[in-house]
Amino acid sequence: MDIARTPSTADGNPHLADAPPEPQEPAIIRREDYTPFAWLVPETHLDFELGLESTRVTATLKVERNPAAEASPVLRLNGDGLKLESLHCDGEDCAGWAMDGDDLLVTLEGDAHTITIVTRFDPSANSQLMGLFASNGMLCTQCEAEGFRRITFFPDRPDVLSTYTLRMSGPKAQFPVLLSNGNEVATGEDGDNHWAEWHDPWPKPSYLFALVAGQLVANRDTFTTMGGRRVDLAIWVREGDLERTDHAMDSLKRSMKWDEEVFGREYDLDIYNIVAVSDFNMGAMENKGLNVFNTKYVLADADTATDGDFDGVEGVIAHEYFHNWSGNRITCRDWFQLSLKEGFTVLRDQLFSQDMGSEAVCRIGDVRVLRGVQFPEDSGPLAHPIRPDSYREISNFYTSTVYNKGAEVIRMMRSMAGPERFRKGTDLYFERHDGEAATCEDFIRAMEEGAGLDLEQFRLWYRQAGTPKIEASVLHSDKTTLLALKQSVPPTPGQPDKKPMPVPLRIAMFDRATGQHRGEQLVIMDEAQKGINFDGFAEPPILSINRGFTAPVTIERDIADADLAFLAAHDDDPFARYEAMQDLVTRHLVAAADNRLDDAAKASAREAIGQALANIIGDEAVDDLMRGELLVLPSQTYLAEQVLLADPAAIHREREGLKAWLGAELEDLFTAMHSRASKVPYSLDAAAKGARKVKVQALVYLAAGAPDVARAMAWEQYRGADNMTDRQGALMVLAGIDGIERTNALLDFYNRYEGNDLVIDKWFSVQAQSLHPNAIEHVKALADHPDFTLKNPNRVRSLYMAFAANPHAFHAASGEGYRMIADLILQLDPINPQTAARFVTPLGRWRRLEPGRSALMREQLERIAKADKLSRDTYEQVTRSLG
Ligand code: ARG
Ligand code: ZN
Repeated sequence: MDIARTPSTADGNPHLADAPPEPQEPAIIRREDYTPFAWLVPETHLDFELGLESTRVTATLKVERNPAAEASPVLRLNGDGLKLESLHCDGEDCAGWAMDGDDLLVTLEGDAHTITIVTRFDPSANSQLMGLFASNGMLCTQCEAEGFRRITFFPDRPDVLSTYTLRMSGPKAQFPVLLSNGNEVATGEDGDNHWAEWHDPWPKPSYLFALVAGQLVANRDTFTTMGGRRVDLAIWVREGDLERTDHAMDSLKRSMKWDEEVFGREYDLDIYNIVAVSDFNMGAMENKGLNVFNTKYVLADADTATDGDFDGVEGVIAHEYFHNWSGNRITCRDWFQLSLKEGFTVLRDQLFSQDMGSEAVCRIGDVRVLRGVQFPEDSGPLAHPIRPDSYREISNFYTSTVYNKGAEVIRMMRSMAGPERFRKGTDLYFERHDGEAATCEDFIRAMEEGAGLDLEQFRLWYRQAGTPKIEASVLHSDKTTLLALKQSVPPTPGQPDKKPMPVPLRIAMFDRATGQHRGEQLVIMDEAQKGINFDGFAEPPILSINRGFTAPVTIERDIADADLAFLAAHDDDPFARYEAMQDLVTRHLVAAADNRLDDAAKASAREAIGQALANIIGDEAVDDLMRGELLVLPSQTYLAEQVLLADPAAIHREREGLKAWLGAELEDLFTAMHSRASKVPYSLDAAAKGARKVKVQALVYLAAGAPDVARAMAWEQYRGADNMTDRQGALMVLAGIDGIERTNALLDFYNRYEGNDLVIDKWFSVQAQSLHPNAIEHVKALADHPDFTLKNPNRVRSLYMAFAANPHAFHAASGEGYRMIADLILQLDPINPQTAARFVTPLGRWRRLEPGRSALMREQLERIAKADKLSRDTYEQVTRSLG
């Protein structure tokens, strides 16, 4: 049927009900409601006639009844804002069809049919960046989770797997490079147009579909797999960016090798393409054979990327590559199972990075992210289990809980099984479910059978939200020592009562007599209370617990400051050493911010912390990368998490006060450390990265305690920098201290990198995140800068995510910071709802703030909730945050 030529009602669709639908509250989708789809789609043929402003898609779907599902004559094809140009069944008019909201329902009489659908849309108007969109003159797709339905009508759900063949054609000059999933099977020319045909032999869900067309150049290489398959690798970027792709290519080859060695996984196509785009909502996307990446996670060289950026590229390249097995070969049955692929793949990329660099430093970094983002999520209004029970908009569930806590949950299985048995479990999982759309339960069962674990009670980690708390105390008498453990899991929205879960804790008891422990043990704390006996200690031993951070829990241990200082200096587990240092400082700052310390108590606590830091600076057994970690003060977010109602101003005052005291007290040590590290020449080896890390730490403390000294040192570091880590570190410090150096450095940085988007993002962030008292005014001015745009998610985040993470500015007592974020959400929501909804999170903290700020923050959420038209994304996050 040619829709344009059928007799129609005013809105062009004869099958629509007369009255326009009322604006509705978006529906709640529930995990328990899952049913298999009534139809299979063994083959999908797509024909794209490409144009930046108008693209026409002809989709031909072979469909047949699914014998494993309850039969239904109705084929539901999801759509999102699509205009149907024509629809045919087996080449004829379809007997019955209707629109149901955005979806197309086709009624089919027989068991197998061919459906042909034509749609047309304007990619350049797609500011949501979901589906097919234009970015810098190129066309590119993002389909996870529900973007494919913005391209054509289709059963857009991960359990419908289909084999894709695609043809695309377009102007050769505008789109010289045409890419899709799988292998290129034919190409040709047709006047000014050209075309290409691609075929992906691996059946896949629609969210893994990808297409790219544009003017791109490639960094090419090859990799030969363990089975002898020669794979052509290509990283596609804009012309001027080619020199910055070597690190990504190197990371890709190392990932491919590592996955063969550690997980036995081999690549399964002859081509692996990666394309970098600058307008992208997320980090990257694992489309089969054609990954699409945010430029931020591809481009890196010494002049423009920090050491952190290099690590980010390595980690994300690995993550997307590892998805080829954990995600693509085995995908998810439904979106509630998202952690099946994301949690597991994050663990895989963490283990990879650990093997490429320093295990301890990687672990500390992973835990810092978990505590900085996931713990607050788990204790706030948006808390959900790693396998959620319901959602309105699935994009809102690409969370730190699903990703990072999901990784921790699988890491616990690995700790309990040990690496060899864990590998048996993953082998069984990959073998048993290859080619399927699986569930978390499938993974757990494979682990039980393959790794020989009993995970009956452990399944609670998939069902219960909230960060468990473990209280630990050591009770000592003449001959016996008892470690008393208590577990509680806090209530979270919709889950008032929780059961104790199995918590694997690696533990060691240090003997005061020798300063050593007698070996570690793994205790599985699976009850509300548990006691463990030790003997042979003449004096009460010192408890080192959750070593290596074996469990994603909070620990409250009854331990003296002096014992924490001992562990901070002597624990042989590097994570435990870091933890002791963090605990020592956290305790002090929490008490000080709560006005619980008199002058004498404050002075003696500072002395103890100063002594511990001095030890760390002078400890020759510690490398600089680790030293840099040990020197970092707990973040303001982490400190705020430790109390029921936080006063951000008090926390800020005490944290900055301590920093200033330490900077002044240890000025000579910090200057000496800085000058020692400044002699290390630039390279990417651990020693040189460590040297750069401790230099920034020295400047950070000195900026607080000896600003004049710091300003001069930072300016010198800025001017002499031959790499971005040194340059950005110095700029960050200067941005917080008034003076001509601040102005000069910011101006120089802008002029030097004008036109390089990723570096100009840093220029925005450094100012939005600065300790400068006028940071709010700076952010307002930057929002009017000609380089600022709401259309580019990286730029929006560089200004406003940085600002929302700047406690003294965001939590201004006037409420101005909250108002600015609410304004942003309202402005951005109609342009890019997915990115807008991410900014609701910082406003969700209102229940955990002192009354004044709490009311101001809540007021802003209510203001957003009252807005006329909210996206499903923002609506869901705002109502949950108020709920
Ligand atoms: N699967 C991608 C990754 O983790 C991320 C996709 C994010 N999608 C979204 N709607 N936020 O590698
Ligand atoms: Zn992922």
